[in-house]
Order: sequence, then structure tokens, then C-alpha cells
Amino acid sequence: MSTTRHEGAYLVTGGAGAIGTAICERLVDMGLSVVVADANAQAAEDVAGRLKCDYVTVDLRDRASVDAAVETVVQEHSAIRGVVNCAGVTRLMDFFEISTEDWNWMMDINALGTMHVMQAVGSRMRDAGAGGSIVNVASIAGKGYRQTSNAAYAATKGAVLALTKVAAIQLAPFDIRVNAVCPGPTNSPLLNVHNTPEAQGRIAEMVEHVPLRRFSEPSDIAAAVAYLLMANAVTGQSMNVDGGLVFD
Ligand SMILES: NC(=O)c1ccc[n+]([C@@H]2O[C@H](COP(=O)([O-])OP(=O)(O)OC[C@H]3O[C@@H](n4cnc5c(N)ncnc54)[C@H](O)[C@@H]3O)[C@@H](O)[C@H]2O)c1
Repeated sequence: MSTTRHEGAYLVTGGAGAIGTAICERLVDMGLSVVVADANAQAAEDVAGRLKCDYVTVDLRDRASVDAAVETVVQEHSAIRGVVNCAGVTRLMDFFEISTEDWNWMMDINALGTMHVMQAVGSRMRDAGAGGSIVNVASIAGKGYRQTSNAAYAATKGAVLALTKVAAIQLAPFDIRVNAVCPGPTNSPLLNVHNTPEAQGRIAEMVEHVPLRRFSEPSDIAAAVAYLLMANAVTGQSMNVDGGLVFD
């Protein structure tokens, strides 16, 4: 484990992924103690090694795994001050082809995983009495984005947005803020879910619909996450980072 520069850590789930890594970089640059939390142990170790921060392996679907990861971080850093729930999965699927297994796979990681972390970390923050900040990485898919990868993925992100609002109200008495960032299509390997042999040209078509005519960069998402993590008077909000695709 690295030297703790500030009292308390900032945990980033999916921290070994494209957007998660950019978020970890941004928070490390801000002088915060970051812990990369990811199911991919090798990738998490690599990112943490490069950024000189800590990592834990976790399967967000499993509450015991989440509790163990949170316990490890609290042992090493004494407290968790902030969490970014960034882990998420999807795959391009036709509405009628989405199976129960597909639904459960996405729901369990994207929505239940977010709930697991919010409960495990939120209860620690509540008991410590020093407040805290949670940012959930949802998606404009949860707000009705026409070119989303699939309906079940959109439903998981809708669940994350609803959870964000209600948690913001129910955790406010403990000075725990909860906000969401909704990326639009972002330059990352995840975008390649749209790049199947049957979907040739789909990515080029997606960018044409973005008013700014470009995809977001992982660093753009990281900037919004960093703002919301530290925005003392902001809770229950969702910020679209999508080049102007969705207005709400
Ligand atoms: N890339 C985009 O265009 C885009 C757009 C909108 C929203 N998002 C959202 O942004 C977030 C990050 O996306 P990304 O592009 O960086 O994806 P990514 O695939 O690069 O990263 C996802 C990370 O989540 C981890 N993960 C998967 N299952 C896990 C589990 N059970 N437990 C712990 N970790 C697990 C993976 O190992 C991976 O490191 C996701 O929530 C995604 O839905 C992405």
C-alpha cells in the first residue's frame, strides 16, 4: 500500500477501465489517495502501479466481495471520503434478443453492484460522521438515448439514476452527497460494442448525431466526476457529458 497523502481514500470501481483510469488519474493529480477497485486484478495492478496508488480486486455482484474490499481500504486508509461507481458492462443487442441471463448480467454489475458499494461505503461514512461524496457513472442511455447499445443496459442506467436521487435524499442527513455523471458515447474500447459485423457504419453514424460532432473523451468524464465529488452544495443531480445529445 502507498503512503496516505490525505486522511481517507477515494475508491473508484471499474478503475482499471478506460473511463475509470482517467478518473483515477484526475483524482491522483488532485493529490487525493485513490484506490483502484476492479474485477480485473492484473489491469487494476497495472493502473495502480503506473499512478502510484493502491488497488483492490472486487466482484461488485457479490456483497461479501464488496464488504471485504471496503474493509481492506478502511484498514489501510482509516476512512473512505469518496466513491466513484464507474464499473459497467454492455453489449449490442436487439430488443427481442435480450435474454434473462443478459438482463441479469447487466443489472447485477451496473445497478446491484452500484447499490452494494453505496450501502457498504455509505454505512461506513454514516458511522464515521464525517460526511462523504458518491458519484455514480450512469449514461445518457438511462435518459432515452436513441442509439444506445440495448434496452436492458438503458434500464440498468435508469436504475442507477433513480437510486442516485433517492440515496441523495436518504443520505443527506449524514452529509453524504450522491450525484451522477451521464456520459454520451465516449472514446473507449466499450464503444466497440457497437462495432459488430452486422452494425458496420454505426459508430460513424453515432458521431454525426452529436451536436459537437465528436465523442467525449475519458478525461471529459473525469473532469465532471471530479467537480461533483467536491461540489459541496450539490446533491441528487445528474450531469450529461455528451456533446449536447440530451437536454433535461
Ligand atoms: N464508453 C462509453 O461510451 C460510455 C458511455 C456511457 C456510459 N459509460 C459508462 O462508463 C462506465 C465505464 O465505461 P468504460 O468505457 O470505461 O468501460 P470499460 O469496459 O473500459 O471499463 C469497465 C470496467 O469495469 C470492470 N468491471 C466489470 N465487471 C465488474 C465487476 N463485476 N466487478 C468489478 N469491476 C467490474 C471491468 O473490469 C472494467 O475495468 C460504465 O459504467 C459505462 O456503462 C460508458
